[in-house]
Amino acid sequence: MKGLILSGGAGTRLRPITHTSAKQLVPVANKPILFYGIEDMAAAGITEIGIIVGATAPEIEMAVGDGSDFGVSITYLTQDEPLGLAHCVLIAQEFLGDDDFVMYLGDNMLQQGLDGFIDRWRTMHADSRPPSLDVSNRSNSGPAAQILLTPVPEPHRFGVAELDAAGHVVRLVEKPEDPPSDLALVGVYLFSSAIHEAVAAIEPSDRGELEITDAIQWLIDHDVPVHHDLLDGWWLDTGKKDPLLESNRRVLESIEPRIDGDVDENSTVDGRVVIEAGARLINAEVRGPAIIGRGSTITSSYIGPFTAIAANCEVIDSEIDQSVIMEGARILSVPRLTDSLLGRDTEVVRSTRRPHATRVMLGDHSAVELA
Ligand code: TTP
Repeated sequence: MKGLILSGGAGTRLRPITHTSAKQLVPVANKPILFYGIEDMAAAGITEIGIIVGATAPEIEMAVGDGSDFGVSITYLTQDEPLGLAHCVLIAQEFLGDDDFVMYLGDNMLQQGLDGFIDRWRTMHADSRPPSLDVSNRSNSGPAAQILLTPVPEPHRFGVAELDAAGHVVRLVEKPEDPPSDLALVGVYLFSSAIHEAVAAIEPSDRGELEITDAIQWLIDHDVPVHHDLLDGWWLDTGKKDPLLESNRRVLESIEPRIDGDVDENSTVDGRVVIEAGARLINAEVRGPAIIGRGSTITSSYIGPFTAIAANCEVIDSEIDQSVIMEGARILSVPRLTDSLLGRDTEVVRSTRRPHATRVMLGDHSAVELA
């Protein structure tokens, strides 16, 4: 079994961060989102992984390398334009060959690993012939696709599955105005090579993308079995700020506390906290769950729960909680920063200059919420 991770895309919903960097490399608890997916695949025994890359290919290749750090072998597959999830399968066909594969959206995070999902697929295929590429000859073969579903409060924002009374998947619709159920598709899929015929047969949707839901629907319409599994635990599509902060909260909740940096005698550390090597707390209070990255200095400040401060940041006379602060950021004399995502080398400073006013230099599509 191979792995296919989708790490191209436009990332419009996470601008301005994605004007300059890949959304899949935004850190959650100081680790790029993409690494969680690679680690889950490695833990499930998948060692050959293809990563779809687009405009941010150099940055992704620099961060992930050849995969040896994860114990896997990575092949980069270039997608010239983000033409849809099914388009990713189309361009990965040569890499995937006749193998079954797990497809994982590179900006998704799920609590459960991939083991159970893959075990169920293997059990179902144990008693059946391997799925055939010939969709007219599919009796007694295992499913050609296995999707992962979870109930959500706003199904119209997702790909949604309709099941029949026996629990079979009968219909999939992408962001429906009138959802047939509240069961959303989680960004992890299992396919046999039968999917290649489906992605070649479908047409682009109204938004100009080859939709994976249309490809799976094509299988259903050709009487090819599509199985589903229900998600255990949480899942987040981190493509927007708030779900990203929520992922950060969830991961920090289970972080293993350790103090490898310097904490001076006037500082306090309380709860689940990681202070990485080379980080320094000077007259500071850190209340976990929180992580302070290597080389960062926190001076006369309060870092509150669910905050991840990446490497080489400087925080002075400030209070921060519920936030993700990326590498090299500086925060000076800010009484309270909350629910915030700061990009690399950003600066938030309280000024004493007159007139007392807010002065900003914001990139395109930035958002500021003033107190
Ligand atoms: P999405 O979040 O659905 O799309 P996007 O990245 O273009 O974001 P936005 O809607 O904010 O503009 O994509 C899910 C994952 O799949 C994400 O990791 C990007 C990746 N992807 C590709 O690699 N190629 C594609 O053609 C598309 C649409 C997505």
